[in-house]
Amino acid sequence: MFTRLEEPWRLCRRPLVEYVEKIAEILRRAKSSIAFTGAGISTESNIPDFRGSQGLWKKFDPRMASRCYFEEDPKGFWNFYAMRYNAIANAKPNDGHIALAELEKKGYINSVITQNIDTLHTKAGSKSVIELHGNIIWSRCDLCSAERRTIECIEELESSDSPPTCKSCGGLMRPSVVLFEEPVKLMEVAMDIAVRSDCCLVVGSSLTVYPAAMVPEVVKGQGGALIIINMDPTPLDYRADVVVREKASIVLKKLVEVLS
Ligand code: APR
Repeated sequence: MFTRLEEPWRLCRRPLVEYVEKIAEILRRAKSSIAFTGAGISTESNIPDFRGSQGLWKKFDPRMASRCYFEEDPKGFWNFYAMRYNAIANAKPNDGHIALAELEKKGYINSVITQNIDTLHTKAGSKSVIELHGNIIWSRCDLCSAERRTIECIEELESSDSPPTCKSCGGLMRPSVVLFEEPVKLMEVAMDIAVRSDCCLVVGSSLTVYPAAMVPEVVKGQGGALIIINMDPTPLDYRADVVVREKASIVLKKLVEVLS
């Protein structure tokens, strides 16, 4: 069990190294730690987040990532996802992704549970990655679930100026990601991991989207430690043991150095 650290670790600005050493101390003591990541860990790979200062939802209606928009305007939906795919396709893992892979290799974290669809954790070398919202590399037929690479679907969209269809049944293709109004299929897997963890390292998430944001809540709720590395406040800051308002890559890179 982790007793709650005194207030100052969450509210006042201390030298970064003190936060990193506190996080390292918690990870050393923990028996089973997980990382829970959101779009904020990928902004340093030039993939915009959603609710940060330059977030996608400041420019686009979140409805564009919903099931009902896909059904209402599949072409508009695919134009939006083609734009997102192009931002992701050439992105490279940054120091934050690489550091989490390193922490897994050193045995300090067991899994990364991510809300991201950019596959950068896997590209960085993390082995146990739960992609709660799927990933954008593959698309599937909305009728028969036949799969096609998303790049192929985008090429069809651009050449035919209509939404891509299934080669087997002619149904509409859609990216294999979880849309708003759709169930998060891997939630049971994530919950099973969370209930067996006594430390959750949150990196780059506003912790505003459920059920994904239940993961850190479950770990904290059963007496585990909660660490939040995020540039903006989150609804779980008040329950966290450590809150760091700093770029993920800077904190995580230093954390690997301290734990080496
Ligand atoms: N380092 C640390 N934090 C960062 C960085 C960074 N380099 N860049 C951005 N952030 C923070 C922002 O301050 C923001 O609070 O990351 C957080 C990202 O929050 P969101 O944009 O809400 O992303 P996320 O939490 O992943 O959203 C969850 O919402 O729209 C849906 O499906 C989408 O998976 C997504 C879900």
